Amino acid sequence: MNSSNNIKAIILAAGKGTRMKSSLPKVMHKVLGKTLLERVINSTLEVSSIDEIFTIVGHQSEKVTDFINSTYKENCKSIVSIKQEPQLGTGDAVFKAYDSLKSFKGTVIVLCGDTPLLTSETLQDFIDFHRQNNAALTVLSTIFDDPENYGRIIRNSDNSVKKIVEEKDANPKEKQVKEVNAGVYCIEWKHVSPAFFELTTNNKQGEYYLTDIVDWSVKKNLKVQAYTLEDNDEIFGINSRFDLASANYLLNIRTLDNLMENGVTIMDPDSTWISPETQIEQDTVIYPGCVLEGENIFGKDCVLGPDLFIGGNVKTGNNVKIFQSRVSNAIILNNCSIGPFAHIRDNVEISSDVRIGNFVEVKKSTIDEFTNVSHLSYVGDSSLGKNVNIGAGTITANYNPLTKVKSKTDIEDDVKIGSNSVLVAPIKISKNANVAAGSVITKDVPENSLAIARGKQTVIEDWVTKKTKKDS
Ligand code: UD1
Ligand code: CA
Repeated sequence: MNSSNNIKAIILAAGKGTRMKSSLPKVMHKVLGKTLLERVINSTLEVSSIDEIFTIVGHQSEKVTDFINSTYKENCKSIVSIKQEPQLGTGDAVFKAYDSLKSFKGTVIVLCGDTPLLTSETLQDFIDFHRQNNAALTVLSTIFDDPENYGRIIRNSDNSVKKIVEEKDANPKEKQVKEVNAGVYCIEWKHVSPAFFELTTNNKQGEYYLTDIVDWSVKKNLKVQAYTLEDNDEIFGINSRFDLASANYLLNIRTLDNLMENGVTIMDPDSTWISPETQIEQDTVIYPGCVLEGENIFGKDCVLGPDLFIGGNVKTGNNVKIFQSRVSNAIILNNCSIGPFAHIRDNVEISSDVRIGNFVEVKKSTIDEFTNVSHLSYVGDSSLGKNVNIGAGTITANYNPLTKVKSKTDIEDDVKIGSNSVLVAPIKISKNANVAAGSVITKDVPENSLAIARGKQTVIEDWVTKKTKKDS
């Protein structure tokens, strides 16, 4: 695409969000694991013709700017924060980008940072519609049965757009209108930007309304139109905790529908929460009570849940079973079985055909194929080879609380560790060695050997008989 066709985006994110009753700025609240602002920025970034984004920040501007800078530091498109202080309304917010766009002659798309359900496909269709019709200004609208709190699109008798009236300024007849303003606009900047010098605060809220550019453009005989969206969920704006709960619900339903469409079985959508950033392949079955947050990939024929929390950065092969567990930052290859009640975290790599059983915690470790850690163990900062068996109750003692140093445990192929052993790191148990049950191992164990480190058993014959005679 020729660079003169490139589009600039302005995202409004300066408001406090009073109705949220929160110490966080509104746009920093999360929907399915990502902030409202991140969801809007991500959809915007996916539109290829948009090459630069201006985010208008104000309330707790440092916090929001730091968040943008750290989240998008590796992004190739430019995302610039502009401060709006004080916050005098949405019209004033867009005007803050005026200096940065002084010599710009193309299309500017304006979005609100509090509408996290908008998709990039809709943004693309909206831009295409604006351009194909050679409009000076296009607003995104939809029909809501309950239009309360949204600006209403007021049309002339010939159906052309006349103006937008805010709920608080609307007369009873205007309040009946069910077509609402989504807060997304395509603006031919050269023609419409002079409007920002003429906005006033003559309204119930005493604010500079961005919506007044519609009336301004109509009066200047510029071409103004509305693009009416069918899926009205997409424009859903967050103004309260109730809206936040609804947005979580709507985004979840959209995600689960896509997964089911692609061949994933979800037994109980009502108790299943999956982030849109989670990919799941065909014929995987999700039992009730699963929460899958962050970016994850699950293979084919897996069984997840019941009752599972996935915290992000989890990647599995095929035919992996994870029950009643908590897993994050892990790679788990084919045919593994995890849980119930396992905790896997902090950079774990598990090869195929491994079993991690009940009450086992695995942290920052690698486990090679056909190894079992079946019951009640802690495996931390460790490397386990192939065909290893870790007996019930084994602990890798990786942490020295005096020096605060964490050390490594290296267990080679075919090693068998007896139940209730403590392996005090740093330590190496070489190939095919055995450790006897109940041992505390502090020295390396060579290949093919047996290490026993426990009190020797003494048997005192007839002790019980003698004891009971004496006492009676
Ligand atoms: C706005 C629209 C309304 C539309 C609705 C869609 C106006 C006047 N009204 O109303 O027609 O139906 O969005 O969701 O535009 N913001 C700033 N600076 C400010 C004020 C707001 O950056 O001075 C930002 C907020 O952070 C928010 C966005 O603009 O992300 C929208 O502001 P909000 O107060 O939520 O507007 P609504 O009353 O919802
Ligand atoms: Ca809003």
